[in-house]
Amino acid sequence: MSPCLELGFSTLRWAEGSLLLLDQTRLPRIQIEMHLHTVAELVDAIQRLCVRGAPALGCAAAYGMVLGVLDAKQPSEWLTQLRASGALIAAARPTAVNLAVGVAQMLAVGEQLAAATDADADADVDVWTALLLDAAIAFHDADADACLAIAENALPLVPDGSTVLTHCNAGALATGGLGTALAPLHLGHARGLRYHVFADETRPLRQGARLTAWELARHGIEVSVLADAAAATLLASGKIDLILVGADRIAANGDVANKIGTFPLAVLAERFHIPFYVLAPATTIDPQCAGGAAIPIEQRDAEELYGEDGARTGVGVFNPAFDMTPAGLVTHIITEHGIYQAHGAGQSAWQAYVNSLSL
Ligand code: MRU
Repeated sequence: MSPCLELGFSTLRWAEGSLLLLDQTRLPRIQIEMHLHTVAELVDAIQRLCVRGAPALGCAAAYGMVLGVLDAKQPSEWLTQLRASGALIAAARPTAVNLAVGVAQMLAVGEQLAAATDADADADVDVWTALLLDAAIAFHDADADACLAIAENALPLVPDGSTVLTHCNAGALATGGLGTALAPLHLGHARGLRYHVFADETRPLRQGARLTAWELARHGIEVSVLADAAAATLLASGKIDLILVGADRIAANGDVANKIGTFPLAVLAERFHIPFYVLAPATTIDPQCAGGAAIPIEQRDAEELYGEDGARTGVGVFNPAFDMTPAGLVTHIITEHGIYQAHGAGQSAWQAYVNSLSL
C-alpha cells in the first residue's frame, strides 16, 4: 500500500509462524491482535467474525492453509493435512466465495508441489511450507493491488464533495488492502477530495456503526451513522448522491449477495433515482453460480438478534446474514478490471468478462 494510504492498522498479517488478526469483535473500543496458530482457531475466528468481509476472508483462508501444515513431518501427512484444512476453512462460512477461492488457490499450489516431487523422494516439507507461505503472501498482495485498482476505477464516479451512503463495512477492515466500497473514498481523501459518508448501522452485528465509522473517522473522512431503518428517509431527503456497497458473491448474471439490508437500499435507490454501485474484486465473482438463487445465504444464531430473551420466551428468529440484490437494480459493478453493467446495453460485455474469469 502506498505510504499516503497507510491507514494505521493491519486487518491481518503473517508474523513469526502465526496469523495475526485484528479482532473486529472488539472494535471500536479496543484495537488488539489475535495470534492464531491452528486451523481450529481460525475457523472459530471466522465464525465469530473476528475477521470478516469477503476479500479478507479469502486472505485469511490462504494463510490458514499454511497454519494447517505447520506441524507436518512427512510429504503424505503434509498433503493430507492441507486437504483437511481446506475442507474445514471452506466450510466455516458459506456465502463469501473468496473463502473457497483462497483455499482452492493454496490447495492447487500444494498439490503441484507434491506432484512435482518424486513419490519415493524424501521431500523436505519445510520447503513446501515456505513456498505455500509465499503463495499466501502473494494472494494477500494481489488482493491489496485489486483494492487499489478498484479505487482508481471508481474514483471518477465519486466526485469531490459527494455525499455517499454505504452499508456494512467494505473497507480496509474487510480486505487485504484499502477496501472495496470504501477504497475510492480513502484514495480520493488522500488526494485532497472531500466526502461526507453516511454509514448504515447494519443490524444486528453493527459493522457500519462499529467498523466503517471507526475506519473512516480515523482516516479523517467525515462520517455519520444512521439506523438502517432511517435509510429511506435519508434517501428521500435528496442528500445522498450515490450508494457504494461491497459484495460477498456476485453470480454470473450479476446478481449480488451482500450484507443483509443491501437489497432494500437498491430498491430505494431505484425509487429515488440514486446510482447504486457494487465494488468488488474479481475473486468475489462466481462464474459457477448462474444466478442469485444459487448463492448460499448464511443463517446466523438467533442470539445475535434476540439475545437471551429469545431462549427465555421461546420466540423464533429469522437472521439471514446476507441478501440478494438482482442485477437489474445495480447501476454498475466496479472491479479491478473496469466498470461493468450486468443488464441492458452492458450485459454482453459483462458476460464476456465473467466468461474470461472462468478460463
Ligand atoms: O458478515 P460480514 O461482516 O463478513 O459481511 C461483510 C459484507 O457483507 C461486506 O459488505 C462484503 O463482504 C464485502 S467486503 C469488501
